[in-house]
Parts: sequence; C-alpha cells; structure tokens
Amino acid sequence: MFDQHPGLMTQIRDRFAHVASCPVQGERIFFENAGGALTLKSAVETSNHYAAIPDNQGRDNPMSHELVRVIAKAKADMMTFLNAMEGQVFVGESGTELLFRMISNAIIESEEGGSVIGTTLEHPASRSAAQRWAKIARKPYISVPHNDETGAVEAADYAALVQPDTRVATILHTSPVTGMGVDVAAISQAIRAVSPDCIIIVDGIQHAAHGRLDIDSYGIDGYAISPYKVFSRHGYGVAWISDRLSAMPHDSLIDGPEGNWELGTRDTGAYATLSDVVGYFEWLGGQFTDSGDTRERLEAAGSAIHAHEQALTDAMLHGTGNLKGLADMPEVRIIGGIDNPRREGLVACTVEGRETAEIIEALSARGIRVHIRKADHYSGNILNPLGLPNCIRVSMCHYNSMEEVGQFLTAMREIVEAG
Ligand SMILES: Cc1ncc(COP(=O)(O)O)c(C=O)c1O
Repeated sequence: MFDQHPGLMTQIRDRFAHVASCPVQGERIFFENAGGALTLKSAVETSNHYAAIPDNQGRDNPMSHELVRVIAKAKADMMTFLNAMEGQVFVGESGTELLFRMISNAIIESEEGGSVIGTTLEHPASRSAAQRWAKIARKPYISVPHNDETGAVEAADYAALVQPDTRVATILHTSPVTGMGVDVAAISQAIRAVSPDCIIIVDGIQHAAHGRLDIDSYGIDGYAISPYKVFSRHGYGVAWISDRLSAMPHDSLIDGPEGNWELGTRDTGAYATLSDVVGYFEWLGGQFTDSGDTRERLEAAGSAIHAHEQALTDAMLHGTGNLKGLADMPEVRIIGGIDNPRREGLVACTVEGRETAEIIEALSARGIRVHIRKADHYSGNILNPLGLPNCIRVSMCHYNSMEEVGQFLTAMREIVEAG
C-alpha cells in the first residue's frame, strides 16, 4: 500500500526509534508489536522535556498554566482520535488497572442483582476484573464462548446469552493471540437489544495501533488503551468513559472536583505524548487526503494503515515475489484460519513436529524478533481449546515493510526445511 507512495515508508520509519535495530541485540526486524509497538521519536523527546520540569499543575504561575494547557490539549486530541463526542479521557497506572477500575465500578455501582457478561476471547485483564467483581457483587457471570476456528466472537454469540437484567458487559476489540478484531458496534447493539442500559466496557489495547477508532459508533461506556502499544511509551494507561459512567460513584477525594477519575498528580509528559501520537496519525492521514480536518485525516490514516497491514499479512500467508507464504508450508498451522477478514496485522502459527521455542530462537538468530505465546494465564483461553501448548506470534505494524516480510519468509523456509 505505502509502496505506491514513493519515499513514504522511509518518512514513516524515520519518525520511530529503534526501527531496524535493538540497542542490545543489534540489527533486527521488529515483529513483536503486539507486545509493545515502536515509540515515536517525538514521544521520546516530549517525555525527556517534561521529565525535567519540577512544577505541578494547579498553581498560579506560568509553567503550571502551561502544564494544565498541555493536559487539556492532549485530552481533546484523544477525544478526536477516539471520535468520542461525549464523556472524558483520563490516565491511570496501566491499561489493565484502568480496565479493573472501570469494570469494578460498573459492577459495584450498577443496580443490584442481574448479571455480568463477557467472552472467553478476552485478555485476562478484563476477564479477571469482571469475574472477581461479579462475585463480590453477587451477580452471576455469563461466559460467551468464542469461535476456535475464526479466533473471534460474534454479536450472535453474545445475543444468545445476554439477559434483560445483564448489568455490565465486557468486549475485547482485538485479540492479542489470534490477532482477530471483533465488530464492537454489532456486539454492543446485540447486548442493548436485550438489556438497553447495560454498561459496556471495551478492551481496545490491542486494537489502537491499527487506527480506525470510532467510539461514537460503538454505543459503549468505557474503552481502555495502553499507550506503549500505540507509539507512545510505558508507564501509564488511557481510558475513555461515557458521561453515564463518569457520573457513577468511584474512588475519589472527598469534596474533590465532580467526575474526576484521576487519582493523584498527573504526569504531564505522559499526556503530552498522546498529542504526539495523534499528531503522527494526522500527519500520516495527510499523505492520503487533502482535507484539513483532523478527524478526516485520522480516518484516512486508519484506512491506509489497514490496507498496508493487510498487504503485509496477505504476503506473510500467501507469499511475496517468488517466496512461498506460511499457508503454502504444509508443516505450518495458522491459528484463526488463513483468509480471515478480521485479522489485524498479526499471524499466529505453529510448526508441526517442532518446538515453538526452538523456531523462535532460530528466528532471533537471524535477527527476527517474534514472541512465543504459551497456554498460560494470558493465552490458555485461546490455545488450550486448540490443544496447543504454545504458538509463534508474528505481530506487525504499518511501519513494517514488505522486504521485512520477505526476510521473515526466507528465514522460516530455511528453519522449517532444516527440521
Ligand atoms: C488485549 C490486551 N488487553 C490487556 C493487556 C494488558 O495491557 P497492560 O499490560 O498495558 O496493562 C494486553 C497486553 O498485552 C492486551 O493485549
């Protein structure tokens, strides 16, 4: 996709730190984006800048006013990025912590009785929160089984089990194990058709880097993101909550400002990097549309990212040039089906008769970084039903190139044939 725009790939890659080499390992291809995406150089500079500022927010001095302005701008930028016309954005310790906070409050503060619903597709961050707090609130937990073949879950799966008194629902936007995205709007519609006031919380942590976020169309109450998985850095999480969820009782200081979900002093640098991230998406979108409207540019970026990532995963599966794809290697088993339209930049697979750890080591020795997912508390929900102790996860982002996919396929062929 980006190949049709001469020089664009170079410009994109120039904007990120450690694109082609790791400070410890040296040259490497980075296909571990689902574990943590590359960081924008602008986010690194911004973080450095604010790390040195001693001032706090809420004082009557020029620096303090500036910090407040930067935070307000970052929040506004995130609202545009998410396409959220109502509600608020705030930061917390991590995506996991924010999911726990949103879900626990929704369960504890929703009307007594009723149930909580979620799916086996979810990461344990939302699943553990929902199950723990459902038990505390004595609301039965309804578990929607995902589809092993597609590696996803559908609106009809939720529709079959949701109850008129289901108070809280959780949805995973994109699976970090299968790489498949779900139709959040269709699922939330199916839930609301049966339980109109259900509070719906979405784990968007794996989806955000792929763009095309549109909270207004989802009909939900909460959405969590981990900034280090969307081109910013580690150390915090971001949540969006609807006006309705904002107004529910939650941990906060007595007599503090109403609707404030933040606990303690905020890291202005963390917020400021969010503006860098949105600015980057806007810049990228500007390569594909002449519109001066930020949201239109963000949408153009999302479409371009999706098209490029699809070209990469198609090449990985079906080959590029004269290189065979993974789907053409009889020893390789692809999780979630081969031609699955739900796929978001990620291919998970196993190699028949070979230890996954050994394949990953052989890829690493060839300078290709991927990750092993094990049937543990993170991925057992997906791998155990498939009878797999582990798998190879190859996760890409739009800054990955077709050449990198080619190098990966050459390496895989060598490794598979050597076995
Ligand atoms: C879908 C999903 N949810 C939650 C998490 C946990 O995110 P964090 O460690 O940033 O809290 C991850 C991390 O991989 C994830 O992929």
